[in-house]
Amino acid sequence: MPQIELSKIRKTFKIYERPEGKWALLRGAFSRTARTVTALDGVSFAIGEGELVGYIGPNGAGKSTTVKVMSGILTPDGGACVINGRTPWKERTAHVAEIGVVFGQRSQLWWDVPVSDSFLLLRDVYNVPRETFKRRHDELTETLGLGGLLKTPARQLSLGQRMRCELAAALLHSPRILFLDEPTIGLDAVSKLALRSFLKEENRRSGVTMLLTTHDMDDVEALCDRVMVIGHGKLLYDGGMPALKARYAAREGEDIDEVIARMYEEMAL
Ligand SMILES: Nc1ncnc2c1ncn2[C@@H]1O[C@H](COP(=O)(O)OP(=O)(O)OP(=O)(O)O)[C@@H](O)[C@H]1O
Ligand SMILES: [Mg+2]
Repeated sequence: MPQIELSKIRKTFKIYERPEGKWALLRGAFSRTARTVTALDGVSFAIGEGELVGYIGPNGAGKSTTVKVMSGILTPDGGACVINGRTPWKERTAHVAEIGVVFGQRSQLWWDVPVSDSFLLLRDVYNVPRETFKRRHDELTETLGLGGLLKTPARQLSLGQRMRCELAAALLHSPRILFLDEPTIGLDAVSKLALRSFLKEENRRSGVTMLLTTHDMDDVEALCDRVMVIGHGKLLYDGGMPALKARYAAREGEDIDEVIARMYEEMAL
């Protein structure tokens, strides 16, 4: 049985719009027009233990929504999702103990306290035994180079420093699955390379399953044997990067961003 299985997942959002015009405020008090946005339109896929999968697609395609459904943050309108034998939004506590999540655009760390205090809080949240925690903490501090950062409040960290701490925070309880939503956003070239090699090594050494969303195709090329493409809430491609390139590249050795741009265009995204 696959470790992660989504079957026909649907998620819509209702957006309420106030009427426009001179009397809008008054009329808005009595009538609001509702519009439905379909973020996920029957998404199905399966991921096996230890896989490292890239999840790409243009802005607004449904990537973050998928990650939120798989993390138990959002409840879908329909379909099934089973991860480690559980439905995320139904058995949230047990589920989150076995996954780690990193949102590049949002911090999971407590903003005003030193990073090490956030780590201690997470130890208590996840009930990690002291010895196990210490071993894992020291290991992550070493591999992610956090030594000089632990006493600093999260809000004083640079983006690159914060991202290293976010990764440690997501992995302290040794989850078997890691979801990464744009982990390399805003990172410089050196930090990106370091983060990629950390993820690759973590996946190779501990066999942690990873699903990674990104707009950086070099991330996908460097890390993922498998890539899934989503557009308008539908899964449009699921396969290897070489096959994707062969299908959409106009010539040998074409820049990967051009290939992806052509693919999005052909898929009418
Ligand atoms: N909380 C929300 N309320 C209303 N609409 C939402 C909400 N979250 C997402 N959406 C809508 O759902 C669709 C999918 O959004 P989602 O954030 O999953 O896209 P994405 O693929 O992560 O895009 P990006 O690459 O820009 O991060 C978009 O049309 C978005 O506007
Ligand atoms: Mg997103």
